[in-house]
Amino acid sequence: MQNFIRLISFLKPYRGRFTLSAALATLTIGSDLVVPMIFGWTVSRGLQSGEIRNVIFYAILLLLAQGFKSVTDYFQWIVQQKVGQDVVRDVRNQIYGRLQSLPTSFYRDMPTGQIMSRVTSDVEAVQEYLGWGLIIQGMGALSFVGTSLILFSLDWQLTLALYLPLVILVVIVYHFDKRIGPAWEAVREQMGKLSSTLQENISGIRVVKAFAREGLEHGRFRAQNELMRQKGLNRQRLEANAFPAMDLMVGLTFALLAWFGGQRVLNGQGDLGQFFAYQWYLWGIIWPVRFMGWLISIMRQALAAAPRLFQILDAPLVIEDAPDAIDLDEIRGEIEFRDVHFAFDDEPDRPVMRGLNLHIRPGEIVAVLGGTGSGKSSLVNLIGRFQEATEGQVLVDGRDVRAITRQSLRRHIGIVPQEAFLFSATVQENIAYGSPDATMDDVITAARLARAHDFIMEMPKGYDTQIGERGVRLSGGQKQRLSLARAILIDPSILILDEATSAVDTRTEHEIQQALERVMQGRASVIIAQRLSTIKHADRIIVLKDGVVAEAGTHEELLALGGEYAKIYELQYRESDELAHEIADYLKQMGANGNGYTTRPLAV
Ligand SMILES: Nc1ncnc2c1ncn2[C@@H]1O[C@H](COP(=O)(O)OP(=O)(O)OP(=O)(O)O)[C@@H](O)[C@H]1O
Ligand SMILES: [Mg+2]
Repeated sequence: MQNFIRLISFLKPYRGRFTLSAALATLTIGSDLVVPMIFGWTVSRGLQSGEIRNVIFYAILLLLAQGFKSVTDYFQWIVQQKVGQDVVRDVRNQIYGRLQSLPTSFYRDMPTGQIMSRVTSDVEAVQEYLGWGLIIQGMGALSFVGTSLILFSLDWQLTLALYLPLVILVVIVYHFDKRIGPAWEAVREQMGKLSSTLQENISGIRVVKAFAREGLEHGRFRAQNELMRQKGLNRQRLEANAFPAMDLMVGLTFALLAWFGGQRVLNGQGDLGQFFAYQWYLWGIIWPVRFMGWLISIMRQALAAAPRLFQILDAPLVIEDAPDAIDLDEIRGEIEFRDVHFAFDDEPDRPVMRGLNLHIRPGEIVAVLGGTGSGKSSLVNLIGRFQEATEGQVLVDGRDVRAITRQSLRRHIGIVPQEAFLFSATVQENIAYGSPDATMDDVITAARLARAHDFIMEMPKGYDTQIGERGVRLSGGQKQRLSLARAILIDPSILILDEATSAVDTRTEHEIQQALERVMQGRASVIIAQRLSTIKHADRIIVLKDGVVAEAGTHEELLALGGEYAKIYELQYRESDELAHEIADYLKQMGANGNGYTTRPLAV
């Protein structure tokens, strides 16, 4: 019931037009109640009077009534369809708006395919009901009650007899309703699962192919699809069982009319005109009952779909702007972590940070090092308030980030995430994504700084080259550089690179860094990287361990300290030394075996 009320409330902004549509619908049903009567008169008062004048008079009356009905019907449909379309546009926009502001944790819990199926097929179900199902239900009820009143007033005994099969019909419909609702819910649920399977398979198609698991994936899809078939069949079986039985009851009503009504005419208890009127009137009660099953099915679909939409609309935003949050026009780029504790909502017992302190001055380049899962990405997410500290404070320019509107905060943060994402758009559009007003020159400057300009110019249409979905036509390093150019272009006060150059060769990376040093002068940069060559030149290096800053200092200071950093340093260099020897040995062996591979000197 709650869902029903909420579903109906989608109509609220259009109550004026909806009322108009309901009024027109009432007029249509009103004409339906008059027309059979006029037809009866044509027989009883026209034909039986034996005067053609009377017959023509009633025929014209009938025509006028029917014409009136068609006009109201026409306008009713126009108004109603528009309301339906408007509502559904609003619902889609609302959902999309919500999806934009939901935290990333929402997307982790709800598969993309589920979201897609909700925005498309579930919204459609709501549209069908609010667009016409609801109003037809109302018209049906009106027609049933109005016609019944007339029939009972004409001949209550005959009417009572005719209602017998109708009562059985209602019983069938009732049972049908009880079972068709859950059947539809199962179909929708399965539809969501099927789309998720499909969507994940398509997104991960490279992995699927790389591991030659096409067979497995196909099997998985087939299994979901088979379930879809079963759920669909189950629903159809329910309908197949119910609909013919319903039709039988309709036929029975007419048989009873012929039997009892006919007898009454012969007995002289009822006249022929009334018999004809009756025959027509019966449709006025049959269609509502007959279609009740189908209308209920439409309503059930909408009611099954609605909670799936509400689930998105009601998903908690988690991080909302404080009412008194301020807009920052400018940010110097000073960052401070004051005794920050942080744990993910779903794992409160496994803190990622346990009293972390860190002060980054404007203009400073800070490199963050730490084992996988040590909280590096979480650290930078806290700066942009993608996550929120459980305890303690994160300050930007001396202000608690919670006191700054997210939009203005993020406008000043250029972030190059761990996984570069590019839209299916041109290179230029991808770079200018965060700065729609940027000129072409700005775009090129940013691309040069990110060392992307040269390879862009080698592409067939340069900056106008279309990049496929997820940038599949680019290498990992190229994607990273475009992603970097995008972040540089917004002219950020704080630049965050989360493994942003991990796929770029060391020499290019070095060039990028030198370029960035110039650009980021007077602002703050936080660089996360595993490669020591990347972070060696930072003003300060911090090592995260056990949720706190374990070590901090310059490369030399940390080496001298002989702690965690020194260990990692040793490991990386020793490894690369050993690797070099291994490769050399290997190549020598190949040469000795004379298997055709050259052993020309390689620069290892
Ligand atoms: N959305 C999440 N919900 C719950 N736990 C998470 C979530 N994201 C990360 N974690 C956990 O929090 C810890 C810190 O993750 P984080 O991504 O900050 O690590 P990281 O240092 O960036 O690791 P990496 O070097 O692998 O990128 C990890 O143990 C991880 O398993
Ligand atoms: Mg990370």
